[in-house]
Amino acid sequence: MVDVMTRVCFVCLGNICRSPTAEGVFRRLVHDAKLDSQLEIDSAGTAAYHVGESADARARAAAHRRGYELTGKGRQFQVRDFDAFDYVLAMDADNLRALKKLAPNDAARRKVQLLREYDPTALAGAEVPDPYYGGSEGFDNVIDICERACTGLLNHIRSASMAASSPGGVVPQ
Ligand code: 4NP
Repeated sequence: MVDVMTRVCFVCLGNICRSPTAEGVFRRLVHDAKLDSQLEIDSAGTAAYHVGESADARARAAAHRRGYELTGKGRQFQVRDFDAFDYVLAMDADNLRALKKLAPNDAARRKVQLLREYDPTALAGAEVPDPYYGGSEGFDNVIDICERACTGLLNHIRSASMAASSPGGVVPQ
């Protein structure tokens, strides 16, 4: 991978369940691949309900059981984040819509995708289901999905980076 910083922001509604989980899973994958210095990783919510709060205790417990620590605090996605990130990855269609509505221009809109576009087992339009009102199995399911999708995402970023660094290479969309 070339020495270029790629910046990724995972986005859900509250930034206390799904996007912190995706962030924690992706951080570990990136660390294990020794790519920490080349990827900047964050998460945010489209809503402000949980700004400043730790991740949901159930999400933290489920993550901890699988070897991930979720340490961030909730924050709301801001318009300026479209400049700060290359990939803005929504957990579901509602958040995808909210982000596209917030995007100030086409360049910003093009950065917004569903995270599960990178899950090789997912059908088009697949979402990371909201576990907030359900039981603990919902949080485990979110981790399973994030592990698949974040692995696909890292593979994509690595191949995009290699294509960009090769003579005549192009960055795949
Ligand atoms: P998240 O889950 O979007 O994955 O963080 C939720 C968190 C809070 C609420 C809904 C979903 N809420 O309604 O407060």
